[in-house]
Parts: sequence; structure tokens; C-alpha cells
Amino acid sequence: MDRKILVIGAKGMLGRDLVTVLQADLPKDEVVGWDIEEIDIQKEEETVTKVEKLRPDIVIHLAAYTDVDACELDEGKAFAVNAQGTEHVAVAVSRCRAKMVYLSTDYVFDGNKREPYLESDSPHPLNVYGRSKLQGEQHVQAWAKEALIIRTQWLYGRYGKNFVGSILRQAREKKVLSIVNDQIGSPTYAADLSKAIFVLIQANACGIFHVANSGLCTWCAFGQTILKLSGVNRVKVIPISSGELGRPAARPSYSVLSCQKLKKETGLTMRPWSEALKDYLSFK
Ligand SMILES: NC(=O)c1ccc[n+]([C@@H]2O[C@H](COP(=O)([O-])OP(=O)(O)OC[C@H]3O[C@@H](n4cnc5c(N)ncnc54)[C@H](OP(=O)(O)O)[C@@H]3O)[C@@H](O)[C@H]2O)c1
Repeated sequence: MDRKILVIGAKGMLGRDLVTVLQADLPKDEVVGWDIEEIDIQKEEETVTKVEKLRPDIVIHLAAYTDVDACELDEGKAFAVNAQGTEHVAVAVSRCRAKMVYLSTDYVFDGNKREPYLESDSPHPLNVYGRSKLQGEQHVQAWAKEALIIRTQWLYGRYGKNFVGSILRQAREKKVLSIVNDQIGSPTYAADLSKAIFVLIQANACGIFHVANSGLCTWCAFGQTILKLSGVNRVKVIPISSGELGRPAARPSYSVLSCQKLKKETGLTMRPWSEALKDYLSFK
């Protein structure tokens, strides 16, 4: 075995895809997947001791409290997992002198920009989830100087709850779907993101990188495309505002991420979101 790669959050939506990609593409490396059953990142001593004992060369930290509305209602838990938990992982990584990779979010931005966000743009989160993930980024930068921070958005994939599954499930149960039409972003396929993470690791990239499928849409247009590509035409879609939906957490109205840095530094171009979605639905 060449390197030992530890994925924390390995049983989540992205984690399952990422472990599969790394095991297939890095056959000489050992890929170890841990989730809440193996390590609770809220517990500092447990986290540091377990990671130190494993002695990984690379730690990819995906574990997070990802329910954006639940975070709004439980700020304590959001910060305990996403900020302090991330600091515990970063401390452990620095003790092992390993490489740290941290997954962050487009929700660090407020959405006031009207062109794709660059890695150098100032973050200004609108909700608790975004603030807790941003604090996670800051802990990573403080503890692990050569760390790689990857901000992504609007993820869907084969595992876990996500928007694509939710639209298809609702389409089986209802005749009318109301979908938000005032937030713009880029739906991102977890399998494509996993490949990009692999490419960034192989390039030994450091610093912040934005990674998302290319192109942009609203949640409503995303929903309509999911239905169309799935051959569902008996469901009526009604565009609504975020205010009408009335979720606890505010979301940015525009959070498209520029992936120019990814392209410049690795040569990788992310494919259009509609192409990735077609691919995903054809395997379902
Ligand atoms: N999903 C998106 O649209 C999106 C967008 C931007 C960024 N991201 C980031 O990408 C990463 C992966 O997201 P995802 O959608 O794959 O998330 P996910 O499906 O919610 O997976 C996160 C995993 O972390 C685990 N976890 C939660 N608390 C933990 C703790 N205290 N200790 C150890 N493990 C814990 C979860 O276990 P339980 O399920 O048992 O809680 C889950 O298996 C996250 O860092 C997220 O912030 C996601």
C-alpha cells in the first residue's frame, strides 16, 4: 500500500460515492471509511486519539450536520459538529502531519453577487449552517496550512436524501408540485464531484477550490428537468418564492460557483449539470 486515505463521513451521500471512486482509481492506496459509528467528531479526545492511531497520510473530512433548516433551529449542534468537530479533525490531522481535505459549501456566500463566485470573494453567510461551515474552514486554515478546502453546492447522488429523489417521490404522490424559483445555483452530481476531489488530491492542490457542475438554474428549472428527463408529464409545476415556502433558514438567491481555478490548476472542466443529471437518471 502506498498511502492511507481516511474518509470521515464515509456513509453520507458524497462519502459513499467518494470511497467507491478512490478505491477504484487508487488501487495501491488503502482507503478507510469512517462515519458516526466509528468516530464522533464532536468528541475531541476520541477524534484525535483514533485518527492518530490510524496514522493516515490524507484525511478527507466530509462529516457534517447538513440539514440546513435543522441547523437554523439548533445552532449549538450546528457549531458543535460543523465548526468545533472540524477543529477536532484538523488538530488530529496536524498531529499526524497528514494532508487535510475539507468539504465546504456555497452557503458561505450571501448571494448578492450576480456572476459566479470566485474563491477570493469574501464570504458572508446568511444562515447558521453557512456560518458553522465557514468557521470550520477557518479552523482548517489555522491548523492545517497545506489544507485543501473544496466548496460545492446543490448535491445529489445515488445515496441519501436529496432533491432529485424528493421530486420523483413527490411526483408519484401529487398532481401539483410547488418549487422555489428565486434561488439560482448549479446542481452537482456527487459522482462528478468525487472524480474532481480525486483529481485535486492527485495534483496535491492546496487552498480553496470551487467545484460544481457547470451551468446554472433555479430549483424550479432543476425540478422541471428532472421530471422531463424521467418522462413524467402529468405533474404540474408551480414556481413559488422562498418566502412562500417559508423555510426556517434563509438561502442565497444566487450562489453559482466559478470553477475557473479548478480548470486552470488541474485542467479539469466540470460537465454541464443537465448532462450529469441525464447520466444519473439513466442509471437509476
Ligand atoms: N449536500 C449538499 O448539497 C452539500 C452542498 C455543499 C456542501 N456540502 C458538504 O459536503 C459534505 C458531504 O455532504 P453530504 O450531503 O454527503 O452529507 P451527508 O449525507 O449528511 O453526510 C454526512 C455524514 O456525516 C455524518 N456525521 C454527522 N455528524 C457526525 C459526527 N458528529 N461525527 C461523525 N460523523 C458525523 C452523518 O451521519 P448521520 O447521517 O448519522 O448524521 C453522515 O453520514 C458535507 O461536509 C457538507 O457540508 C454538501
